[in-house]
Amino acid sequence: MNRLAGKTALITGSARGIGKAFASAYVREGVKVCIADINVEAATATANDIGESAVAVHMDVTRQDSIDAAVAETIEKLGRIDILINNAALFTAAPIVDIKREDYDHVFAVNFSGSLFTLQAVARHMIERGQGGKIINMASQAGRRGEGQVAVYCATKAAIISLTQSAGMDLIKHQINVNAISPGVVDGDHWDGVDAFFAKLENKAPGQKKKEVGEAVPFGRMGVAEDLTGMAVFLASDDAEYVVAQTYNVDGGQWMS
Ligand SMILES: NC(=O)c1ccc[n+]([C@@H]2O[C@H](COP(=O)([O-])OP(=O)(O)OC[C@H]3O[C@@H](n4cnc5c(N)ncnc54)[C@H](O)[C@@H]3O)[C@@H](O)[C@H]2O)c1
Repeated sequence: MNRLAGKTALITGSARGIGKAFASAYVREGVKVCIADINVEAATATANDIGESAVAVHMDVTRQDSIDAAVAETIEKLGRIDILINNAALFTAAPIVDIKREDYDHVFAVNFSGSLFTLQAVARHMIERGQGGKIINMASQAGRRGEGQVAVYCATKAAIISLTQSAGMDLIKHQINVNAISPGVVDGDHWDGVDAFFAKLENKAPGQKKKEVGEAVPFGRMGVAEDLTGMAVFLASDDAEYVVAQTYNVDGGQWMS
């Protein structure tokens, strides 16, 4: 408890799911957090749930004006940003021959450009303050290896791993550590959508795909959002000062690299 006392964090896409679990864990460690999400009603409800150490802002990571406004509002409400988690993302799936350009453009805009330009805006603020910072990107095992029906989502997450390496190397001279977390399969709304997609594609009963992927995890079950919070706390802490440009698998033993 209180391993991050006095710090402030902006977490994108944190109205629900993994981002919400990160926000709750950070507050338990003494952080003031900003719940930034395109769904501002859900973000407000999440901030109210978490308590007085959380505030909510509207943020659409696909729009530069919204990124700039959300970063400025976070600084105004919390005083500064010590930690950024680039967490907002969308899942999409389709056979290669059915991929639609609009879907490709939108998913890249949320998952990759959204992370790049939020990282840029927050890095500029951190450089100006001159006190360093911690930036955590959300990758995925989908970024480690392609998957037949999931080309676009996989490519966005491979791009996040690459961005983490480049930004990590560029920004460490400002004492800004950029690293990433690579989850495997984490139960929640996101995976409800994945399960529904495969139920249709492979003619499976609802819940069947989740059961199969859970059984394939060496740990013996799907992950839950709370399985990832320890890594998010570590990467934001002073213990991670010498950790630069890395992507850490937190996936119950699924991937080794
Ligand atoms: N759930 C998994 O199995 C899994 C596995 C690997 C990686 N991840 C990654 O972890 C992160 C969180 O996943 P999750 O399962 O909690 O997802 P989720 O779908 O439950 O939550 C995503 C959040 O992002 C928000 N969002 C969507 N578009 C946005 C935009 N344009 N601007 C701002 N916010 C936006 C949504 O409103 C939502 O609150 C994502 O980056 C995801 O790719 C998840």
